[in-house]
Amino acid sequence: MTPNLPSSADPSAGSVQPGFFQRLALVVGLVVLVGLGWKGWAAWRTQPVPERPVVSSNPFTEKTDVNPGYIGAQSCAECHQTRVEECLSSPHFRTCRIPQAGELPDTFTTEAGSYLARSAGVQFDMRQVGNRFYQRSRYATPQGPKQSETSIDLVLGAGKADDVYLSWREDGALFELPVAWLWPTKQWASSHFCTPFGEGDFARNMTVRCMECHTTWMEHAPGTNLFRQEGALLGVTCERCHGPGKEHADYHRLNPGHSAAHILNPVSLDRELLIEVCTQCHSNAITHRQPPYSHRPGTPLSDSYRTHQIAHSENDHVADQITHLRKSRCFQQDESLTCITCHDPHQRESAAPVSSACAKCHQTSDCRQLPSLPEALQSKCVDCHMPSRLKINVKFEVEGDNFVPPIRRSQHRIGIDEVARDEVLWNWHRQQTSSESQSETARLAERLINHWLAEAEARAGEKRFMAAIAAVRESLVIGETPKAREMLGQLVEAQELLYLEWARALDQILKNKPEEAQKTLDKLLAIDPGNADYHAKLGTVLVILGKPQEAIPHLMRVAELDPNNASGLGVLGRIAYGNQKYEAALEQWEQAAEIEPLLPQLQYDLGLALLELKRPAEAIQRFERAASMDSDRPDILIALAEAFAATGEWDKSIERATQAGGLTEGGDPEQSQRVFEWVESLKQRAAQAQKGKRASR
Ligand code: HEC
Ligand code: HEC
Ligand code: HEC
Ligand code: HEC
Ligand code: HEC
Ligand code: HEC
Ligand code: HEC
Repeated sequence: MTPNLPSSADPSAGSVQPGFFQRLALVVGLVVLVGLGWKGWAAWRTQPVPERPVVSSNPFTEKTDVNPGYIGAQSCAECHQTRVEECLSSPHFRTCRIPQAGELPDTFTTEAGSYLARSAGVQFDMRQVGNRFYQRSRYATPQGPKQSETSIDLVLGAGKADDVYLSWREDGALFELPVAWLWPTKQWASSHFCTPFGEGDFARNMTVRCMECHTTWMEHAPGTNLFRQEGALLGVTCERCHGPGKEHADYHRLNPGHSAAHILNPVSLDRELLIEVCTQCHSNAITHRQPPYSHRPGTPLSDSYRTHQIAHSENDHVADQITHLRKSRCFQQDESLTCITCHDPHQRESAAPVSSACAKCHQTSDCRQLPSLPEALQSKCVDCHMPSRLKINVKFEVEGDNFVPPIRRSQHRIGIDEVARDEVLWNWHRQQTSSESQSETARLAERLINHWLAEAEARAGEKRFMAAIAAVRESLVIGETPKAREMLGQLVEAQELLYLEWARALDQILKNKPEEAQKTLDKLLAIDPGNADYHAKLGTVLVILGKPQEAIPHLMRVAELDPNNASGLGVLGRIAYGNQKYEAALEQWEQAAEIEPLLPQLQYDLGLALLELKRPAEAIQRFERAASMDSDRPDILIALAEAFAATGEWDKSIERATQAGGLTEGGDPEQSQRVFEWVESLKQRAAQAQKGKRASR
C-alpha cells in the first residue's frame, strides 16, 4: 500500500493558505492539527486548554443506556432454583465479586501481606480491617518518601488462577490495582503497568471491555472509566448467555404452565452462533463496533466486535481456544463439535469431566499409540492430544522472578503431539522403580529439555522473548539445568529492558520531552525492529518534532506489522490533512476507522476532511457520531455547527453552537469568550443567509 502522501518535493507541503479548520483553530484555539498517537493525541490536544470543564454532575443519566431488561440471576431462582444454586459457585459467577473475608488470601492479615515490586521500586502492603481490604504503596521520590492507601472494592478472578484487585470510587471511577495474588503458587505479584514512572496507588483506568467479559451488565458512561455501582450485575451469570430475562420472567409469571418463551436457548442456534455465545469472551474479539454491553447472544459477534488477528499466541488477549480448535480435524470433520460438546456451560460439579468427551466420538481403537502404552495411560487422551502449556499472554512479576504465567492452559488444537506424548511417558516412567524405567526417564528428559531449549533459542532469535521464556520454563518443569537457568536470566533481563524503556518513552511523551522520547524509541527499535508500537510512537514523536518526512516510513510500518493498530494511519491522515491533501487524509482515516470504529477523535477527523472536501452532509454524520461518543468536547460541536451552516441548516447550526458555548463555561474565560464571539458571528451569518434567501425569492 502506498498512500498518496505529500513528498518533500511537493510544493504545497507545509506552506500555503491554512484551510478553514486551521483558521478556526487559530481563532478558537481548541483544535490542534498536528497529531500524536491516540492516547498522546488526547493528552496533547487538551494541552493548551486548561482543565476540560466538567459538564454534568451525573454522567450516567445523560449518556448511558438504561438496563435493557436484565433482572439478575437471583430473579431466575424463583423458577430455576436448582440451576441457580449450582451456578453460584461456578468460576463464571465468581469471576467478578465483592471481596469477602475468607475468600481472599489470608496473607492480608499477616506479615506475609507485604510485597516489594522490585523493578518499579515500590513496597506494597496488603491489609484487612474488619471486612475491608486495602493496598498501601510506599516509594521513594526526589521529594522524599511517599505513600498512599487504596481500598479494594472488587476482585477479578474466581480464585483459581490469579485474582486482580479493583478500586471502585464513590463517583463510579474504576481502577485496576497493580498487585495480584497467584493462587497456584500462593504468591503476591505485580502487573507490568506498575513501573518506576507511576505514582500514588500505581493503578490504571479500567476499560469497559475488561468489565464486559467479567460481568453480566453494568451502566457505563461512554469514553470513561465510570461504572455505576447501583444495579451492577457482577460475574458472568445466566443472562450473558441467555439474553435479558425480564420479558421471559414476566411472561411465565402470567402464564404458568406455558412452554418457554422470550428467552434464548443456545442449542437452538446454528453452530457458529452457538460457539459465539462463548467467544464473545473466550476469543480476541476485542474492538467494539457497537457500544459496550450492546451485544446479545444469538446475534453475529462480528456485528458487535472486530476480532484481532494475532500471529503469536503470547500476544493473545485471552486464551482464544476457538482459533486453535478450528484447526483440529475433530472440529473440521464433525459438524456437531462446539465448546459445549466438552464443557458444561453451567459448570456443575455433577457434570461428566471434560476429559470424557473424547469418548463421544472416539473409541480407544482409534489411537494407534494406545496398544503400546502402559494401561494407566490409556485413558489420558487429553494429556497427549490437548496438553496443557505455559502461555505467557497473562504474566506477572513476582519476588525473584518475572514474566510468570499464573496457570497452564490447555491446547485446543486437538492433534498429534509427540512432545506431549514424551512428557506423559516421562512423567509415568519417573514414578516407576524398574531400572528400565529409570533409563527411559533419563533418555526422555534429555530429549525434552533439548527440545524446549532449542525452541527457546528459535523464538529468541525472532525477538519473541515471551515465547522463549515460556519454552525455557517448560524445560525447567522436566529438570533443572544450568543452561536453562542462564537462558532464563538473560531472556528475562532482555524483556525487562524492553518494558522499562517502553515505559520510559511513554513517560517522556507524557512529560512533553519529544527529543528524549525519540532517543529511547530509537534504542528500542534497534533491539526489536518488528514492533508496531515502537514505530507508531516514534512516528508520532517525529511529527511533534516537525519532521513529518522522517515520520512517514515509521507510521506506514505500523499497520503492516500489526493490523490491529490504527494509530499509524491516524497520524498519516493528520499529516496529509495538514498538507491539505484531504482526499489522502480521508483515505487514511477511513482505513483507521475500519480498525477502530468507535474512536470519537477519528470520527471527528473524518468529519473535518469531509467538510474540506465540500461533503458537509457526510461530515455531519461523522460529527454526530463523535458527539454521541464524547459529549464533553466543544470542538466537536463547533465543527458540527459549521457543517450544518454549510448545508444551510441554520437552526441546527445555532443550536449546536450554543451547546458548544455552554460547554466552555466554567473553563478558561478567555477561550470561552472567543467561542461566544464565534457563536454571535454565526448567528449573524445565519441572519444574512436568511435575508439573502428572502431577497432571492
Ligand atoms: C416465573 C418463572 C420463571 C422465571 C422467573 C424464569 N423462568 Fe426461565 N423458564 C420458565 C419456564 C416455565 C420455562 C419453560 C419450561 C422449562 O423449560 O422448564 C423456562 C425455560 C427457560 C429456558 C429454556 C428455554 C428453551 O427454549 O428451552 C431458559 C434458558 C430459561 N428459562 C432461562 C431463564 C433465565 C436466565 C431466567 C432469569 C433471568 C429465567 N429463566 C427466569 C419460567 C421462568
Ligand atoms: C475478551 C474478554 C476478556 C477481556 C477483555 C478480559 N478478560 Fe479476563 N478473562 C477472560 C477469560 C475468557 C478468562 C479465562 C481465562 C482465559 O481463557 O484466558 C479470563 C480470566 C481472567 C482472570 C482470572 C485468572 C486467569 O488468568 O484465568 C483475571 C484476573 C482476569 N481475567 C482479569 C482481566 C483484566 C484485569 C482485564 C482487563 C485488563 C481482563 N481480564 C479483560 C476474558 C476477558
Ligand atoms: C456460560 C453461558 C451460560 C450461563 C452463564 C448459563 N447458561 Fe443456561 N445454557 C447455556 C447453554 C449453552 C445452554 C444449552 C446447552 C445445554 O442445555 O446445556 C443452556 C441451557 C439452559 C437451559 C435449558 C436446558 C436445560 O438444561 O434445562 C436452562 C433452563 C438454562 N440454561 C438456565 C440457566 C440459568 C437459570 C442460568 C443461571 C443460573 C444459566 N442457564 C446460566 C449457557 C449458559
Ligand atoms: C461474558 C463472558 C463469558 C462468556 C459469555 C463465557 N465465558 Fe467462560 N469464562 C469467562 C471468564 C471471565 C472466565 C474466567 C473465570 C475465572 O477463573 O475467573 C471463564 C472461564 C471459563 C472456563 C474455565 C472454568 C474453570 O473451571 O476454570 C470454561 C471451561 C469456560 N469459561 C467455558 C465457557 C463456555 C463453554 C462458554 C459458552 C457456553 C462460556 N465460557 C461463556 C467469561 C465468559
Ligand atoms: C474436545 C473437547 C473440548 C472442546 C471442544 C473445547 N474444550 Fe475447552 N477444554 C477442554 C479440556 C480437556 C480442558 C482442560 C481442563 C479440564 O480438563 O477441565 C479445557 C479447558 C478449557 C478452559 C480452561 C482454561 C484452559 O485453557 O485450560 C477454557 C476457558 C476452555 N476450555 C474454553 C473452551 C472454549 C471457549 C471452547 C470452544 C471454543 C472449548 N473450550 C472447546 C476440552 C475442550
Ligand atoms: C464431536 C466428535 C469428536 C469429539 C468430541 C472428539 N473428536 Fe477427535 N476427531 C473427530 C473426527 C471426526 C476426527 C477425524 C477422524 C479421521 O480423520 O478419521 C477426529 C480426529 C482426531 C485426531 C486425529 C488428529 C489428526 O490431526 O490426525 C485425534 C488425535 C483426535 N481426534 C483426538 C481427540 C481427543 C483426544 C478428543 C477428546 C479431547 C477428541 N478427539 C474429541 C471427532 C471428534
Ligand atoms: C501417551 C500419549 C497418548 C495417549 C494417552 C493417547 N494418544 Fe492418541 N495418539 C498418540 C500419538 C503419538 C498418536 C500418533 C500415532 C501414530 O502416528 O502412530 C495418536 C493418534 C491418535 C489418533 C489418530 C489416529 C490416526 O492414526 O490418525 C486418534 C484419533 C487418537 N490418537 C485418539 C486418542 C484417544 C481417543 C485417546 C484416549 C482414549 C488417545 N488417543 C490417547 C498419543 C496418545
